Amino acid sequence: MNPYRQYLAPTGPSPMGVEVSRAEGSYVYDKAGKAYLDFVAGVSALPLGHRHPELTKVLERQASRYWHVMVYGEFFQDATLDLALEMARELPPSLQTLYPLNSGTEAVEAALKLAKKATGRMKIVAARHAYHGNTQGSMSVMGFEPRKRPYVPLIPGVEFIRFNRPEDLDLIDTQTAAVILETIQGGAGFIEPQNDYLRLVRRRCDETGALLILDEIQTGFARTGKMFGFQHYGILPDILVTGKALGGGFPIGALSASRELFEHFIRPPMGHITTFGGHPVVNAVAAETLRIIRRENLASQATEKEKYLRSRLRHPLIREIRGKGLMLALIMPDKQTADKLILQALDQGLILFWLLYEPRAVRLTPPLNISYADLDKAANIIIDILNQMQ
Ligand SMILES: Cc1ncc(COP(=O)(O)O)c(C=O)c1O
Repeated sequence: MNPYRQYLAPTGPSPMGVEVSRAEGSYVYDKAGKAYLDFVAGVSALPLGHRHPELTKVLERQASRYWHVMVYGEFFQDATLDLALEMARELPPSLQTLYPLNSGTEAVEAALKLAKKATGRMKIVAARHAYHGNTQGSMSVMGFEPRKRPYVPLIPGVEFIRFNRPEDLDLIDTQTAAVILETIQGGAGFIEPQNDYLRLVRRRCDETGALLILDEIQTGFARTGKMFGFQHYGILPDILVTGKALGGGFPIGALSASRELFEHFIRPPMGHITTFGGHPVVNAVAAETLRIIRRENLASQATEKEKYLRSRLRHPLIREIRGKGLMLALIMPDKQTADKLILQALDQGLILFWLLYEPRAVRLTPPLNISYADLDKAANIIIDILNQMQ
């Protein structure tokens, strides 16, 4: 048996199985030397592509000073402060305190705990077809029964509303600690909030004293054409959850909220603790990633590149293109067509991928700094495959 299959735990029955040799810019190379144009970018985790030279420099500089030295929160480390200051530059005062963690799902866990502790309430409201991660708290707010059924009981007190349905918002009441939503639903099929939906959610939270947690683990850091997705919709969350792209290719998760809110974690102390959260090497890369995203104006680049891709990807088998910026999903007529496109593209050296719950969707989330030549190349491969299928 292939040693990868023998010695590494699987996540699904048929992995893509590219044997990676190296990666650079928008390309991954396998051991036979085949180049793959990466239109997935580590599932939205590589805003600057692979091994950006400036990130490599920062990484080497921090690695030559110190690595992990102490559990998070005890020692003061420049790289972690640097990241907090960079985040604060992008956020309003009520979100300028950062809690750096290790992964998206851990940040969601911490956000739910913080909301419960701050409000003294137990009920959490989440959305159908939501994805917030795979640990037990995050799975509790997952809005997709088939995936979580084998793991019940999960945490109690979670109720579900339909995304974009204002008539469900009465479920948010004075027992509710928090409402947790993805700003744009990812696994569901890149579903944007419509018609002031998020403002209505915000208003209902204000009326009832529930906290609003926005999960921007996928939508954050210029991917949708603004630094954060919520900036499209004229509202602010009480707790912002980030991850993925923030790390520039390293594992990370983070909460942003007010200093006052975070005080709840220290009364009593150690409300949420972590050994590796705030890791200086990761955080040095993360801070530099933010500076480069800002300097290169990658948010407006994402908007321009969205327009370009939409203009190039016109085909009768593409029924719809959902999403915003460079968080786009092609909606095919059925799952079979989506599967064929993804597998044939891989064969032709283009990495595409599925979405969690929408079987007709094909994910397009390339690095934000991808060249127009590479956008063209990908569009040509996709259109050629679809032409042959017709
Ligand atoms: C919206 C959203 N929330 C949470 C997560 C979980 O993040 P992680 O895989 O880093 O735990 C993801 C990952 O895909 C995500 O897309």
